[in-house]
Amino acid sequence: MSFSVHNRKTGSRFDVEGDETILDAGLKHSIVFPYSCRGGTCGTCKARLVSGEVGYAHPPQALSPEELAGGSVLLCQAVPSGDVEIEATELAASAEIQIKIMPCRVAAMEQLAHDVMVLHLKLPASQAFRYLAGQYIDILMRDGRRRSFSMASRPQAGQDLELHVRHVPEGAFSSRVFDSMKVKDLMRFQGPFGTFFLREDSDRPAILMAGGTGLAPIKALLDQAFADDNHRQFHLFWGVRARRDLYLHELLETWAAEHENFRYTPVLSEPAADDDWRGESGFVHEVVLKHVDDLSAHEVYACGPPVMIDAAKAQFPAHGLAPDRLFYDSFEFAVDD
Ligand code: FES
Repeated sequence: MSFSVHNRKTGSRFDVEGDETILDAGLKHSIVFPYSCRGGTCGTCKARLVSGEVGYAHPPQALSPEELAGGSVLLCQAVPSGDVEIEATELAASAEIQIKIMPCRVAAMEQLAHDVMVLHLKLPASQAFRYLAGQYIDILMRDGRRRSFSMASRPQAGQDLELHVRHVPEGAFSSRVFDSMKVKDLMRFQGPFGTFFLREDSDRPAILMAGGTGLAPIKALLDQAFADDNHRQFHLFWGVRARRDLYLHELLETWAAEHENFRYTPVLSEPAADDDWRGESGFVHEVVLKHVDDLSAHEVYACGPPVMIDAAKAQFPAHGLAPDRLFYDSFEFAVDD
């Protein structure tokens, strides 16, 4: 059974088949709505249901009962039960990019901190893989589960993909990476996913806020911006617990010295006694506001744990940030099939 989806905001129309979500059906037709987790938790894909009915396999966590009653819909979860009309933003930037399942081989592994491994994945020379800096892939595990990781490298033909894997105790994939993975191991992944890429139609100064390995997609955004000779102002605030967690501190300091449009502020939440830390400390979102109290001229790109993203969503609008200029990726969610 198929139904039609009409986006009143843009005029686009496409069909959804069976129990497809509106987001998945749109992607199949190269219609890209803003999205991140694909699991119903982050709220990036929120839109308005103008007419028709949709169902949800699980309660749509990112919608409050008031939003649900007021006609909001989560496009990554909503399955139409008839023809529907929606009002949703669409993004042109990634419309040409195909989501694929690809094999890859571990080309190198580098442990840069006590709990962070950098993986370099080699792709088959015969298959092109296109993505935008800031997007992520799902590693497909043998038992059917998936784990999401952002590419930390900008897209370049023939280049390995770089992923930053934090060791999560009992974490199915990260434990494998730290305990038994070897160079030349084979894996499969699906992607690219997500719309956490730099909005090219803006020249507003960008605040980049990363928590832990949430640095990965932000490193890719910056690397791409430098390669494109993009002259926007970028200020990165990178929050970690202690000095030993700043696993790419020297690289970021080098970038700050080389690019006059880039500033870098590391933030420690719990500096160790022997860190001898004289830099910023506390919650990273509070340090952002200490440096930039008025966010009305800025865009913010935030990637890190949900608690950091929620703090930005709750506090930045009161400092002038328009909600549609906050782009975020909550990286701790994995979609298990
Ligand atoms: Fe739909 Fe996160 S809630 S993409």
